[in-house]
Amino acid sequence: MENTQRGTEAPHRLVIIVGSVREGRFGPTVASWVAEQARDHGGFEVDVVDLAEVDVPLVLPAVPPLLAGDDYPRPAGMARLTAALEGADAFIIVTPEYNHSYPASLKAAIDWHFTQWAAKPVAFVGYGGASGGRHAVLHLENVLSELHAVPIRDGLSFPSYFTTWQDGRPLDTATEGYAKTLLDQLSWWTSALRTARDAAPYPA
Ligand SMILES: Cc1cc2nc3c(=O)[nH]c(=O)nc-3n(C[C@H](O)[C@H](O)[C@H](O)COP(=O)(O)O)c2cc1C
Repeated sequence: MENTQRGTEAPHRLVIIVGSVREGRFGPTVASWVAEQARDHGGFEVDVVDLAEVDVPLVLPAVPPLLAGDDYPRPAGMARLTAALEGADAFIIVTPEYNHSYPASLKAAIDWHFTQWAAKPVAFVGYGGASGGRHAVLHLENVLSELHAVPIRDGLSFPSYFTTWQDGRPLDTATEGYAKTLLDQLSWWTSALRTARDAAPYPA
């Protein structure tokens, strides 16, 4: 599918989130390759946000973000994350799988926000052992739908990445084609939803 927005519209502001904060993690390697694919695709202004570099406490304020709105008391160390989510037109979440779900770091980052996700498309890149992030992504789709985000159908999954990646990239060159399909779909939804958000406030 051709990206009809290229050259005719402001760049799509894409935020790629590195969900894992584990010591010795593989997440930044995957995110770096995904960012390269997004930049090469064209039309995206890419920002990578690494949750390991952000303060994301597990203890939430008394009032939920939905009710507190702009006054939600977030820690100063979260400002970079909040600003990125707020300004984003689209997201790609890079997630490992821990015990058939996604990491607690990612859940905390999601729960500290609300309107920042609404009426924006989210694509997923999962990796891990046998499951390749499959269960993690299913859980994320469910959670982000609650926040009025729009999950994209096509994603990327890397089972047993320790045997299928080398020198920071997947050995199977067909993967770049799958990434292009993901980015084509993400671009289409980004354009459609940005137009809709500009036309009328989303009734979250
Ligand atoms: C606590 C824990 C639980 C895991 N559970 C699963 C799992 O359920 N399915 C899977 O495919 N891989 C599982 N793995 C393997 C991870 O996906 C793999 O270690 C991956 O490298 C984790 O991502 P990270 O290196 O970015 O932290 C688990 C790893 C950890 C540390």
